[in-house]
Amino acid sequence: MRVIECIKDLKAVVRTQKRQNRSVGFVPTMGYLHEGHLSLVKMSVRDNDMTIMSIFVNPTQFGANEDFDKYPRDMDRDMKLAEMAGVDIIFAPTVKEMYPDGYKTYVEVEDITKVLCGKSRPGHFRGVTTVVAKLFNIVEPEKAYFGQKDAQQITVIKKMVKDLHMNLEVITCPIIREEDGLAMSSRNVYLSNEERKAAVILSKSLFEAEKIVLDGEKRKSKVMEHLVKRIHSEPLAKIDYIEIVDSDDLKEVEVLEKNTLIAVAVKFGNTRLIDNVLVGG
Ligand code: PAF
Repeated sequence: MRVIECIKDLKAVVRTQKRQNRSVGFVPTMGYLHEGHLSLVKMSVRDNDMTIMSIFVNPTQFGANEDFDKYPRDMDRDMKLAEMAGVDIIFAPTVKEMYPDGYKTYVEVEDITKVLCGKSRPGHFRGVTTVVAKLFNIVEPEKAYFGQKDAQQITVIKKMVKDLHMNLEVITCPIIREEDGLAMSSRNVYLSNEERKAAVILSKSLFEAEKIVLDGEKRKSKVMEHLVKRIHSEPLAKIDYIEIVDSDDLKEVEVLEKNTLIAVAVKFGNTRLIDNVLVGG
């Protein structure tokens, strides 16, 4: 496995791959890898001749009061895990390499970035689409792999890829969970022991909601009522949002039919966690 920091060097490797008709799979990450990231790598290794993973904590997707500085980083550990999982190249650019002085260009998807997480994190998705568009241009993958945990991110990236006629397939991979159900996230390390225990309420309440729908309840009001009650039953949980939306356009639905996303964002202390289930898929 090679670690490359320069865009120019990575482009040279990609050019050679293309000349040899070898497919490139891409796993974009901000590092501090967990089983969720490694499951994306597994899919990419299975489907492609070469797997490139980016590790870049992207400053443009963090708000001024967010956790860019304290976002967990451990390059040595990440390199070992990535190599064991079958990554061929880690692309780990510096902020200066990605955003040199005088940088002025941003990519923005409208409307669907203003709801759910976009409401409490203004500018977040503009940063995500900007960096992902840049990474796609550098890596030129045939396929790029993203986790379903960031459901809105996937909807937004798929829309960007479609609207900008980008030449790649975005693959959605299932959420990987801890044994008690908590969705894996690099931010879980911020949780105190008490908060970590309390955070199980997210997956618990979502699985219950899923069961309620599978058992025949299709009214949003009823499913919502259950979610609010269950999450509020956990004193450490402070709800940011609970939304029931169409997973393609993120518009609210009144009746849970095909492709409905039940998504929650909840704060435990200073840590904001998200989780979701897709029903009627
Ligand atoms: O999901 C993430 O880790 C990030 O948002 C991504 C896609 C790597 C862009 O920085």
